[in-house]
Amino acid sequence: MKICVTGGAGFIGANFIYYELEKHCEDEIVCLDNLTYAGNLETLSEAFNNEKFSFIKGDIADRTFIFDLFEKEQFDIVVNFAAESHVDRSITDPEVFVRTNVVGTTTLLDACRAYGINRFHQVSTDEVYGDLPLDRKDLFFTEQTPLHTSSPYSSAKASADLFVLAYHRTYGLPVTISRCSNNYGPYQFPEKLIPLIIYRATNDLSIPVYGTGENVRDWLYVEDHCSAIDLIIRNGKDGEVYNIGGHNEKTNLEVVKTVLSILDKPESLITYVTDRKGHDLRYAIDPVKIETELGWKPEYSFETGMPLTVKWYLENRCWWENIINGEYKNYYEKMYGGR
Ligand code: NAD
Ligand code: TYD
Repeated sequence: MKICVTGGAGFIGANFIYYELEKHCEDEIVCLDNLTYAGNLETLSEAFNNEKFSFIKGDIADRTFIFDLFEKEQFDIVVNFAAESHVDRSITDPEVFVRTNVVGTTTLLDACRAYGINRFHQVSTDEVYGDLPLDRKDLFFTEQTPLHTSSPYSSAKASADLFVLAYHRTYGLPVTISRCSNNYGPYQFPEKLIPLIIYRATNDLSIPVYGTGENVRDWLYVEDHCSAIDLIIRNGKDGEVYNIGGHNEKTNLEVVKTVLSILDKPESLITYVTDRKGHDLRYAIDPVKIETELGWKPEYSFETGMPLTVKWYLENRCWWENIINGEYKNYYEKMYGGR
């Protein structure tokens, strides 16, 4: 089988490529990525040693390029990870989120219609459901929860989901969607909470916590997300949505304190800063559908995945130092300066 992985030079896409190359050595993996600030070929350096892997640089929203590529490559499966993925960036610059996440996804769908596909899988997010109140621990997102987005990021992701489902209903395109909770693990860009805490604490720098730090996220180790997508693309049912999560709800403060304690750094590094605009309160996934229908189960808990993640960042300093010493400095100043 020939699998096109879009956004494979980013965090989850790259982890998925390594997962597939190891688990299904018979399959061919083509990574399609535009190498934005979040895309990093260093992340894929090991994959380049595998003859089943190839890389193509290109923009999923470039219609002529995508149509030419799909005509030539005749993919069996497309897994669409490519996206602008950071909520804070979507608040300061929403336009590129519409272009990549919405126009890019519909361009891929059109190419799949034109040249045929066995499965188009859209990697979506639990953020399309909006948020849950902090004082209702009994409430979870199910696949039936209405879409009710908060940020430009989640709105663009929800729009893409609606197009994916429309292409199934209208044209019979074989699609699936997964909506996963927050991921953490190796190769995550240090704009996201967990790698940001790790690199800042390692360097004895302040840790910016938005608002009161009481917002809750449901954390999943990235490999568990990859195993879920692997099951869906092979055994999932056309037209279906699958939620992915492992019941690892933590407040942001709990996350920060856990990382500080693993690194043996003082809690005095915590600095409260102005809250994110429209900040979602709580995300929490009910994963019962994927567990019962596809037999998926996460292998890691927050307690086992977090030490592994910290260890990876400590052993791969070069990977993140190259990032934070570049253009990232301007990003940090723009987002956090005077906050
Ligand atoms: P990321 O930002 O680390 O990587 C995104 C990748 O997409 C980068 O390699 C980038 O170069 C590429 N890309 C961006 N625009 C492109 C374009 N126009 N054409 C081709 N490539 C382009 O993101 P991530 O955290 O790995 O997330 C991957 C997917 O998973 C996204 O769709 C995101 O919405 C979804 N998701 C992420 C999380 C999470 O916690 N990170 C949770 C649930 C779902
Ligand atoms: P983030 O990693 O950006 O993921 P998302 O917004 O998609 O959930 O943020 C996770 C949580 O951490 C979110 O509630 C915002 C908060 N946060 C901070 O408190 N400080 C930070 O510097 C960052 C990046 C996030």
